[in-house]
Amino acid sequence: MSRFDPSRLTRREALAAGLLAGAGLLSGSAAPAAERREARGKHRLIEKPIPSTGERLPVVGLGTNRFSPRTPEALAKLRAVLQEMPELGGKVVDTAAIYRGSESVIGDALASFGIRDRLFLATKVMARDGASGKASIERSFQALKTPRIDLFQVHNLMDMDEMVPLLLDMKKAGRIRYVGITAVTPAVHGRMADALAKFPLDFIQVDYSIGDRDAASRVLPLAKDRGVAVLINVPFGGLRGGGASAAFARVQGRALPQWAQEIGVTSWGQLLLKYVVSHPAVTCAIPGTTEVSHLADNLEAAHGRLLDAAERTRLEKLWDSMG
Ligand SMILES: NC(=O)c1ccc[n+]([C@@H]2O[C@H](COP(=O)([O-])OP(=O)(O)OC[C@H]3O[C@@H](n4cnc5c(N)ncnc54)[C@H](OP(=O)(O)O)[C@@H]3O)[C@@H](O)[C@H]2O)c1
Repeated sequence: MSRFDPSRLTRREALAAGLLAGAGLLSGSAAPAAERREARGKHRLIEKPIPSTGERLPVVGLGTNRFSPRTPEALAKLRAVLQEMPELGGKVVDTAAIYRGSESVIGDALASFGIRDRLFLATKVMARDGASGKASIERSFQALKTPRIDLFQVHNLMDMDEMVPLLLDMKKAGRIRYVGITAVTPAVHGRMADALAKFPLDFIQVDYSIGDRDAASRVLPLAKDRGVAVLINVPFGGLRGGGASAAFARVQGRALPQWAQEIGVTSWGQLLLKYVVSHPAVTCAIPGTTEVSHLADNLEAAHGRLLDAAERTRLEKLWDSMG
């Protein structure tokens, strides 16, 4: 029996096989998605500029570290998420060479839906030396099926001294547009701050959430001072606080604050994302999701208005009181 090959499924094939319907992605959610789009048209899409160029990005994107489907049904769901991204106003899609097949799922989907140019593709290299770094980078181009990658990042600061110059050369050659570095734990925020001072970076990607505010003390102010754009990974809760599941468990069954409802927030996910992207240094948060309904919820947070400083402080107090 032939093994399931995620790269070979088109939306039409998935439809023919009834997979999208099976995954609840046809009549169940297509109509609500259209309604959501129409309703959202009444709200402003919030964008922020990349300091090094002024190019503007919507403040909520998509993380894809779980885009490694094992069945045709799972693949169909992920492709539906990617297809909905630009429809719902999203743009930034973050992946990495080490996310087991995520780059291929994205490359195939974007090519088959013809939406590559509507998205901002960010990926990462994690290698121990220049030769394996170069090989990994070339594999990313192949998997993503694009001649130009918007943002290439050094994953977890690995071999930065060799990888950043390599990426800067590729930027000069026009193959990538922006260069960045990533980290996902406060334990390395000091190293990230040193790198911000040392390299001419366009972006950093760092962990920050209402439950883990470490980045706000040094890394975020430094990025702002140096004119470096900031992507936020694990925006619902970093490794320290037990991740997104612990954050959603904390708010389970609790009503949203009245003041948040009054500015149009309709879920805790939206409020937690608004908290993150309202930090003045933050350019875009990249919550991970494999569900169209969660994607729509997350992108709702990129509409309407940001929280002001007083609202952010109020939310921190509320959050801490729930602990
Ligand atoms: N070192 C690094 O560079 C690094 C490290 C970690 C992560 N990242 C990047 O950051 C991205 C985000 O990280 P993450 O996915 O680990 O953490 P996260 O975004 O904080 O949380 C993702 C979790 O939240 C759930 N979720 C998403 N939206 C939701 C909503 N509206 N309501 C309820 N639940 C929701 C997801 O489940 P469902 O799938 O069911 O929606 C998933 O379990 C990654 O995908 C990756 O691109 C980078």
